[in-house]
Amino acid sequence: MIKVGVVGAGAMGSGIAQVAAQSGHQVVLFDQEVDALQNSRSALVKVLNRLVEKSKLTEEEAVSIQARIRYAEDLREMAGCELVIEAIVENLDVKKMVFQRLEEIIPEDAMLTSNTSSLSIASLAAGLKYPQRVFGIHFFNPAPLMPLVEIIPAISSDMEMVQAARSLVDSWGKTTVLAKDTPGFIVNRIARPFYAEAVKMLDEGVADAATIDWAMKTLGGFKMGPFELMDLIGHDVNYVVSETVWTQMYFDPRYRPSLTQKRMMEAGLLGRKTGRGFYSYAADAPAPSPNENEELGQYILQRILAMLINEAYDAVFLGIASERDVELAMTKGVNYPKGLIGWGKEIGLANVLSTLDALHQRFGDDRYRASALLRDQA
Ligand code: NAI
Repeated sequence: MIKVGVVGAGAMGSGIAQVAAQSGHQVVLFDQEVDALQNSRSALVKVLNRLVEKSKLTEEEAVSIQARIRYAEDLREMAGCELVIEAIVENLDVKKMVFQRLEEIIPEDAMLTSNTSSLSIASLAAGLKYPQRVFGIHFFNPAPLMPLVEIIPAISSDMEMVQAARSLVDSWGKTTVLAKDTPGFIVNRIARPFYAEAVKMLDEGVADAATIDWAMKTLGGFKMGPFELMDLIGHDVNYVVSETVWTQMYFDPRYRPSLTQKRMMEAGLLGRKTGRGFYSYAADAPAPSPNENEELGQYILQRILAMLINEAYDAVFLGIASERDVELAMTKGVNYPKGLIGWGKEIGLANVLSTLDALHQRFGDDRYRASALLRDQA
């Protein structure tokens, strides 16, 4: 079994190291902060102890998983790793610098990959000695629990290496999907309207956050409503992803974020982690009281769903991913109750299209333009 290197021992790197070690690999986990390594080690001890308590692992297995991870304070310990997954800060210049240093350390034919959520893989590969070995392996948070992994080749990537990595990640019990090197890849692109259209309806005064969340959960079957989920993810993270996708898509109005969320981020109302976002998390905060009007709820659900289905069809149309992978991505990466392509057919594509066309006409906004594939198939 190949030795796996993970660079960055934060939330994602620690989880990825755990996944690889649980699958039997020797893992070298590096971070420039000694504290991060210590925190990562003690967090893993806790996680493994819990798994032993729940009889999901034996004590011996837990001990050997822990023993397979080497917490490295020097990047040079990556020597001999045939697959390196980088999960450091989301900054192109910093990542490129680390990649250049890694090139001097790892074997010539080792795979050099990134867990980036928003940077182009082509830009990470550019300027390296062997750009063909660079591609994206994008896990979801928390990596040990979320089954989906997006595999993202750049134009310059060696597809044999990409396939080899994909098979390896499959063997870790993950569900892999192949995504084109485009903003947001599959999940973070198609999911944009789940948040943005919800906030737009809030801005328009269609309904309050509690009502929109209620509609999406009770009538739509989503595990969490958009506002609860944005509060959980944090508005700093969620807004920045939205803005990045929008700007990288040349300001396509379909991805336009909302100033409401931006102001919340600017004000430091980041959600659960700061005690206040769209909801208050104070101990004495009143419970949300949605307006459980069926007709209003159906309008909200239909509108967000039509936007999501449209994104799913457009992603297939533009070759971002296959239909199968689009369906897997949204059910395994963000727990949607159904695949969006199938859901569209269930509702009737003509109905989805008429919802979009009506919004397009009412607002005169290209945000609501239907994908050519959706229109053709409807
Ligand atoms: P984090 O902030 O929890 O961890 C990043 C770690 O990288 C820190 O421990 C930091 O000390 C270390 N680091 C920073 N610069 C470094 C350098 N030059 N060399 C070595 N270590 C360095 O971040 P998180 O959330 O784990 O994200 C890491 C990457 O994964 C980012 O690219 C992010 O976009 C991506 N990602 C994050 C997801 C999430 O939900 N948090 C989901 C999927 C991908």
